[in-house]
Amino acid sequence: IERSLVIVKPDGFQRGLSGEVLRRIEAKGYTLVALSILTPTVEQLAAHYAEHEGKPFYEPLVEFMSSGPVTAAVIEGQDCIRGFRSLAGATNPTDAAPGTIRGDLGRDWGLKVQQNIVHGSDSPESAAREIAIWFPQL
Ligand code: GTP
Ligand code: MG
Repeated sequence: IERSLVIVKPDGFQRGLSGEVLRRIEAKGYTLVALSILTPTVEQLAAHYAEHEGKPFYEPLVEFMSSGPVTAAVIEGQDCIRGFRSLAGATNPTDAAPGTIRGDLGRDWGLKVQQNIVHGSDSPESAAREIAIWFPQL
């Protein structure tokens, strides 16, 4: 059975959307395997976002993601990586379709980084790598 790493980012956490995101995950039929509230360290984020190092949005992204608490979760279910990304919607919340987390709950706040409420792993390899970073005990 496939697993994915989901993060309710600081914008979503601060707006009190952790429960709403977890509700949608469970309503879709995926299982919660692990759950944690933490403020990410810059070291953790450098590992998590290694693929984006050097891009113009990298530094604002790490700064934003380390700015406050997040809810991190491991979810489980057949094809849940693709399934959660479908629930999340397009990266830019302005473009994300209604019915998705970003489309229903997100917008452009005019900031340097896209504050788009959630993260979800994008492949089985990313999921394994990310789960090891956020939940080393699993
Ligand atoms: P995640 O689930 O968060 O990984 O989103 P994603 O897979 O849809 O996007 P991606 O992995 O490409 O980028 C990671 C994060 O960097 C995004 O969620 C945004 O917060 C931010 N980001 C990505 N692309 C851009 C961009 O072109 N401009 C800005 N300002 N931020 C971006
Ligand atoms: Mg991504």
